[in-house]
Amino acid sequence: MMVNLTVNGEPRTVDVQPDMPLLWVLRDVLDLKGTKFGCGVAQCGACTVHVNGSPTRTCVLPVSAAAGADVRTIEGLSEDGSHPVQRAWQELDVPQCGYCQSGQIMTAVSLLERTPNPSDEDIDAAMGNLCRCGTYLRIRQAIHAAAKQATDAAPGSGGIGATGSSGGPGGPGVSGGATGSRATGSPATRGPVDYRRPVGSGDINP
Ligand code: FES
Ligand code: FES
Repeated sequence: MMVNLTVNGEPRTVDVQPDMPLLWVLRDVLDLKGTKFGCGVAQCGACTVHVNGSPTRTCVLPVSAAAGADVRTIEGLSEDGSHPVQRAWQELDVPQCGYCQSGQIMTAVSLLERTPNPSDEDIDAAMGNLCRCGTYLRIRQAIHAAAKQATDAAPGSGGIGATGSSGGPGGPGVSGGATGSRATGSPATRGPVDYRRPVGSGDINP
């Protein structure tokens, strides 16, 4: 079956089985390896990309359901890691093993495009991606940092959402759904966290 897609702004045509998951099309046919396979059952979020602007778990999305869609992968955020969310991830040393992080970033970008200055509660509600390394606190801090960077860089611009989403909301998304254990609570109840505390000083994978 010939399927037409727009991937990271470029029209692409793939000749694949209609039930092939979009994840395999991206990784094995189009050689976009930044998006990862984790669980294969829409639970972990490692395979998250944007489909028509919505964070979508591509391990369970047949490519036929994405025909004609506008797809954005981690490679489409920037060529050099300069997207505000990628910069925040680097500055806060968010990744540990790194395996989940492209999915985490794509979900975070989508959140910030919808909600330029999210609260902790907004972040916890949106970020259903799992991280076996337990980087949830740094992810939360990096999202706040990215929101601040975008606002400081362009006051009144509306934040990251105003700098170039490749598609509008809607479309054949299979978004969200999974939840995982992660730190919760308001800033008033959590208290300060030293995100750079070395391993061995008390908390493992703070
Ligand atoms: S690999 Fe798709 S949600 Fe886990
Ligand atoms: S950084 Fe290792 S799974 Fe998230």
